[in-house]
Amino acid sequence: MSFVHEIEPMKQTALEELKAAPDLAALEQARVNYLGTHGKFTALSKQLGTLPKEERPAAGKLINETKAELEAALAARKADLELKAALPKEPTDFTLPGRRRHLGRLHPLTQTTEDIVRIFRKIGFVVADGPEVENEWYCFDALNTPADHPARDTQDTFYLAIAAIDSPSPGGEGRGEGERKALLLRTHTSSVQIRVMEKQPPPIRLVAPGRVYRRDNADATHNPTFQQIEGLYVDQGVTVGDLKGTVEYVFKKLLGDEVKLRFRPHYFSYTEPSFEIDFSSSLTRKMGKEWLEIAGCGMVHPQVFENVGYDPEIWTGWAFGFGIERVAMIRYGINDIRLFYENDVRLLRQF
Ligand code: DAH
Repeated sequence: MSFVHEIEPMKQTALEELKAAPDLAALEQARVNYLGTHGKFTALSKQLGTLPKEERPAAGKLINETKAELEAALAARKADLELKAALPKEPTDFTLPGRRRHLGRLHPLTQTTEDIVRIFRKIGFVVADGPEVENEWYCFDALNTPADHPARDTQDTFYLAIAAIDSPSPGGEGRGEGERKALLLRTHTSSVQIRVMEKQPPPIRLVAPGRVYRRDNADATHNPTFQQIEGLYVDQGVTVGDLKGTVEYVFKKLLGDEVKLRFRPHYFSYTEPSFEIDFSSSLTRKMGKEWLEIAGCGMVHPQVFENVGYDPEIWTGWAFGFGIERVAMIRYGINDIRLFYENDVRLLRQF
C-alpha cells in the first residue's frame, strides 16, 4: 500500500496550520514540522525509494509540487505576520494633538554678525569677503608686519604650504610678482582690507566678517578658531573722530544707548595711532566687570596705503577689527566661548 494517498490530507492540515499560525514563532514551528530536515514532507521524499519503480516519478512530482505550495503559503503568512509586528500595538488615536516640529533658527553668532552688518550697511558700508586660506602677503607683509616682526608671534597660526603669488598688485611695491609665500589659515580678517584695496581705488567703506584661526588652546575666552568683523573706511580727510563716532554709533544701536566706550592707546603695525576699545554697560557689570576689551582699531598706516598703491598724502582712513564671539558673549550673557561651538540645542534654542 503506497503512502501517496496520505499526501493530500497532510497537505490540507499543513496549509491550515500555516495560515492560522498566530505569530512568527508558531509559523517557524509549523515550517520545522512539515518542511524541516526531520519534517513530515521531508520524510515522504525519503520513502520514495520504497515505491515500485513505475510509481516513483509521479509520486516525486506530487511531493515536490506540494512542498512548493506549502513554501508559498509559508512566505505569504510570514509577510502578513511581519507587517502585523511592525504596526503599533495600540490603535491610533486620531484625536490626539499633533507633534510639533521645532523650527530651526540662526546660531547666535550668525545673528550677531547679521545684526552688526545690518547696522553698518545703513551707514553706507558694504560687505567684503576673503579666503580663510590666506598667504603671508595679505595676512602680514602688506599689513606692515614683515617676517621678523614680533607681532607675528602673537598671531601664530597653522601654516599649510609655500605657494607662488601670481596676481600682480597695482602698486607693485613690497611684493615681487611670482614671489613665493607661505600659505596659512588667516589670523585676522584684516587681510580682506588689502585684498579689496589692491583691487579698487578709494573711497572705501567696507565690513568683512569671517572666520579666523590662531594657535591657541581652548579655554573660557579662547578658541583656535573664532570669528571677527573687520571695518575699513578710506577717504580724504578721515579722522579719529570719525572712527570714534562710527564705532560708538554701531555699538549703541547693537547693545543699547547706555553703552560706554573707552579708547586706550595700543600698538598695531598697520595703524598709527592705534587703540584698543573697551566697552562698558549693564551687560558687562552683569558679567562682573566694568570694562571689557572688545576691539582693536586705528588710523591706517601710510605704509599700508603704499603697499596697495594708494597715495598716503591724499588718502586717510581708519580700520577696526573685533571678535564676534566677544560681542555675542556680552550680548547674551554667555561666560564660556566654547558653548558657541558645542551645538547643544539647550543653549541654542534660547536665542
Ligand atoms: N587684526 C587685529 C586682531 O586680530 C584687530 C585689528 C586691530 C584690526 C586694529 C584692525 C585694526 O583693522 O586697525 O587682533
